Parts: sequence; structure tokens; C-alpha cells
Amino acid sequence: MIYQNSHSFAKQLDQNDPLKSYRDKFYYPKKDNGNDTIYLCGNSLGLQPKSVRFFVDKELSIWEKEGVLGQHGRWEQFHERLTETSARLVGAKPSEVVTMNALTVNIHLLLISFYRPSGIRKKIIIEKGAFPSDQYAVESQIKLHGLNINECLIELAPREGEKTLCTADVLQTIEDTGDELATIILGGVNYYTGQAFDMKAITKAGQSVGAFVGFDLAHAAGNLLLDLHDWNVDFAAWCTYKYLCAGPGAPSGIFIHERHHDWQDTRLTGWWGQNKETRFDMGSKFDPIQTAEGWQISNAPVMGIAPLLASMEIFNTVGMKAIREKSNHLTGFMEYLISENLPSVSIITPKDRGCQLSLTIQSGRSIFENISEEGVICDWREPDVIRVAPHPLFNTFSDVYEFVKILKKHSKTISK
Ligand SMILES: Cc1ncc(COP(=O)(O)O)c(C=O)c1O
Repeated sequence: MIYQNSHSFAKQLDQNDPLKSYRDKFYYPKKDNGNDTIYLCGNSLGLQPKSVRFFVDKELSIWEKEGVLGQHGRWEQFHERLTETSARLVGAKPSEVVTMNALTVNIHLLLISFYRPSGIRKKIIIEKGAFPSDQYAVESQIKLHGLNINECLIELAPREGEKTLCTADVLQTIEDTGDELATIILGGVNYYTGQAFDMKAITKAGQSVGAFVGFDLAHAAGNLLLDLHDWNVDFAAWCTYKYLCAGPGAPSGIFIHERHHDWQDTRLTGWWGQNKETRFDMGSKFDPIQTAEGWQISNAPVMGIAPLLASMEIFNTVGMKAIREKSNHLTGFMEYLISENLPSVSIITPKDRGCQLSLTIQSGRSIFENISEEGVICDWREPDVIRVAPHPLFNTFSDVYEFVKILKKHSKTISK
């Protein structure tokens, strides 16, 4: 698309936007004066769908009126209502996904299954500057196996003077590590730079040297088009409170490729992973469900899942293709306006990306504080990045235009 540097152009894009009615399906945060903020933080916490209250109230009401009787035929199967939509979201078969726990907990559970160092095959690849929780999780898993972090952890770093990873370097490191490589776990989209990785190529390369390959999709689920089954990914996990708008601390989704479903003795277990036919027999022998559900441990968090049902209903109606299409335009428009108006701002996010742009700018911290005062809601990540992520379901092209205008005003003030 050819963009123009004007508010009237932004308004025209809004008018022609096939998803324009969706903003109204979310509560949009206001400034003290009652005007809308410019909310560009869907990569951190998505906004609340207005339908959430209905979904939560329904479960509260059943609990109120029926107590434990609400369990039977409803809460026991509650998470299953998400199966079809989650599978569609990440390009999986329904048997390959389940919603359970929180993200880092799931990363640990998946690493128990997919990081099983043995002999010389004990190395694990992550991104340098991975989200800290992933780094802590991986390092603790290495230590739990009685191994040395320096000998086992490989951190992929950008080339000297560059900010993002080069796919060729990732593939080369995989090849060089060869049969010493046990597992790869990368973000689908790096939380800091916004770079989207070539998950298909990385999976193929990792598996060709005999490693398991998985992704933390916190910044990819609800953001990118994903095809986990066909890409042959071994495992993945994502949170649902960012792009997926299911609320603070909402439960996580996991993907386990179907070829691993019959594994025995390579997971941590609990009663919710037990064969549903015999779960309530209360027997002592564990007989896992032969799907990703077999990785569940505890019963499903009904009050956490209810808001996710509300937001997934919206995602399901719109579909990821339309969401991605608008996102390309929204973020593309932001990129264009920044390049036209803000020569002092560098965008470190490459073209392989989702909604997010990561901006570096001199005196970035002060500028971030000033634009926040004006009602721009985005975030600052040490040491030097302002992250902005226009969300295709609730942001407009006018939001993007206003944001760049405010950023320009404060960049000029600072540089004077
Ligand atoms: C990439 C990534 N991984 C892991 C986490 C940790 O998530 P949780 O606190 O839900 O375990 C986050 C949180 O923002 C994240 O962005």
C-alpha cells in the first residue's frame, strides 16, 4: 500500500477498515479528561472484551446456585470448549492443544518432556536476551539435570553491530552443534526486538540434527499466522493475556505434536492428564489421555478460562487471516510515518515481524515518560527501547497517526 503523511489519509483508512467495528467490542482506556488514550500495549496486556463479564458471570452464577454440582458435565469439560479455536489459532490438530496453567509453568512442563539430555546430546539453544523467565526456566532445567550451564546453554546473538538475529546464523549454529544438540527453544517473536523467527526453517534444521524444537509463542499467538502442525514443531506454549486479550494472568495454551502423544514416563503427571473414562475411579495407576491433554496436571481454571472464551469468540469470528492483514497495514503505516517524520528514531524491528515495532531514540526514557503523560500507553524496556504494538482489533490508523504526532512533538522538545 502507498501511504500518505496526513490525518485525513489515516481517517480514510479507518473508514475503509473492514475490522473497524471491533474496537467497540473492547473497553478502551480513557484519559482523566474522558478522551481515549492511545493504547499501543496489546503486546503486554490486551484490552478487555466487553463480553467477558457475561462469560464470567455465567460461571459465577452456576457456582452460586449449584456449588459442586456445576462441575458435572460443565467444568470438567470446560477447557475443551477452547480446543477447536486454539487449534485453529496456532495451526494445529485439536488433539495437539490444550489450555492449562501459566506460561512459564508450561515451559517447564514441556522442557521436562523435550529437554532430556543424554550422553553428548545435552545442549540447548535459546536467544541471547530471551525473555528472562525463559532464560531462568532453561537454566534451572539444565541445573536440575546436574549439568553445567556454561557447557549446555547456547545463546544465539546478533552479529557485531546488529540488533536482530540472522536466520542463516541460527541455522549454522544448529548445524555446528549437530549431535550435541538436545533442544531448541526460541520465542516465535522476540519480545524485545519484535523480530519474528522462521519457525519452519529452524524446526527443520533442529530436527535434522536430532533435536527437539519448540517455541515460546507469547508474542506470536494472536499476532502471526501459525502453522505448527505442518511446520512439524515438536512443542510450543503461549500466554493468552497479550494479543489474545484474555486478561491479566489468563491461562496458557500448549501445543504438542501428535507424534509424541503416546510417550510414557517423560512428563510430570497429575489427575487431569488421566484417561477421562477412569479419572473419577480414583485409581493409583496413571493412564494418560493420548492427546496434549495428557500433559494436564490440575483441573482447569474455570474463572481464568471464561474471559478467554469471550476473546476467542472474537478471534474466531474475525479469523487470523483478516487480523494479520490489518496488522500489516497498521504497523506498516506506523513505520512509514516514523520514517517520514522522525529521522532521529531507529526502528530495530526487521520486516519479519508482527504488530510490534521497537524504537530506539536518544533520551528515549524521558521521551517515553513525556508521551505517557500525554496518554500514550506503550512500554519502555531497558536499556533503550520503546515498544509499540498497534492491535488490529482495537487500534485505528488515527491512533497510529496521533501517536507519531505526539512522539514527534516530544522528540523535538528533547533535542532542543
Ligand atoms: C516471551 C515471554 N515468555 C514468558 C513470559 C512469562 O509469562 P508468565 O508470567 O505468564 O509465565 C512472558 C511474559 O510477558 C513473555 O513475554
